[in-house]
Amino acid sequence: YNILVLHGPNLNLLGQREPGIYGSVTLEDINSQLEQLGEELGVNVSCFQSNHEGALVDAIHDARGRDRGILINAGAYTHTSIALRDALAAVEIPTVEVHLSNIYKREPFRHHSYIAPIAIGQISGFGAESYRLGLQALVDHLQGQDS
Ligand code: DQA
Repeated sequence: YNILVLHGPNLNLLGQREPGIYGSVTLEDINSQLEQLGEELGVNVSCFQSNHEGALVDAIHDARGRDRGILINAGAYTHTSIALRDALAAVEIPTVEVHLSNIYKREPFRHHSYIAPIAIGQISGFGAESYRLGLQALVDHLQGQDS
């Protein structure tokens, strides 16, 4: 089955963007790591990044009937977007939220997530490893549902 990985705004700049916070890993590195981990776990991983809220909403709608799970780093939309949260709730696809940085260690405006209440869980603070842990947890969760 298929897992959709969604990356929100500014994550296309990973590697160049505030490396002190986000490290030197690029989005391409993360995506290829996830595709490889997907192969090991026996799932197909497809990745999409957008800087546009509406494009991310559309991508979530398009996942309906196609993807079994969603792994999302919504970037700053995490803290602002009721629309993304509503889209995830509407499609009812099990979702895991991830962040490279530990959002609770940073500015107070990053402490609140609109997505967390509709997610299975959240992984924050492990850099690119957050995504890998998130994919593993999502697949574990989905396998638990099968049995
Ligand atoms: C982020 C944390 C957000 O607060 C920030 O706006 C991002 C990246 C992270 O992965 O640590 O763009 O989601």
